[in-house]
Amino acid sequence: MIPSYANFGGKIHGGILLSLMDKVAYACASKHAGTYVVTVAVEHVEFLQPVEVGQLVSLLASVNYVGKSSLIVGIRVIAESIKTGVKVHTNTSYFTMVAKDEETNQPTLVPPLLLETREEARRFLEAVKRKELRKMYQNELNNAKTILEVEESLPLLANERCVFSEFER
Ligand SMILES: CC(C)(COP(=O)(O)OP(=O)(O)OC[C@H]1O[C@@H](n2cnc3c(N)ncnc32)[C@H](O)[C@@H]1OP(=O)(O)O)[C@@H](O)C(=O)NCCC(=O)NCCS
Repeated sequence: MIPSYANFGGKIHGGILLSLMDKVAYACASKHAGTYVVTVAVEHVEFLQPVEVGQLVSLLASVNYVGKSSLIVGIRVIAESIKTGVKVHTNTSYFTMVAKDEETNQPTLVPPLLLETREEARRFLEAVKRKELRKMYQNELNNAKTILEVEESLPLLANERCVFSEFER
């Protein structure tokens, strides 16, 4: 990682890593699909360790799941000190990409995924579970939004770190 990628604190910007991950997800997904792809969703972005200027960053990616036109690419990011050889896992994220037909610009069918190892089968199963959980979470979130009445729900904030000003009428 070069100095121009760093923030004012001297660590690598999270956005630089996300941009690299997006490019790797594109390469991985489009190679499998044989078409161009677009990024639709990114799941689980949580940087566990900072990345330092001078560290060598490796991104390990695999297509974990394919649907009809969508593919989920898992990316593991590892930062390595060139001097000591110590490696740290900074994050693992899941990029949902959708294959598009170049002429119609519509989602297009991707080839099925060949699962050659138990680990590949595990990743596929995990992706299916993750999709289910995301759907449930999204439904819950939508319900919460529709039933949330601000005035009635204010007591829920009793232990939160916020103070009230006058609400606009
Ligand atoms: C994503 C996009 C192709 C979906 O188009 P659509 O006409 O709604 O197509 P569909 O509803 O048939 O969805 C296509 C696939 O995307 C998946 N998908 C759509 N929205 C999704 C989301 N928010 N999260 C995960 N998957 C999603 C669907 O499950 C479906 O998967 P499948 O074919 O494997 O079953 C369209 O919204 C798009 O082009 N978005 C912009 C993407 C982009 O420009 N990315 C770059 C961002 S800068």
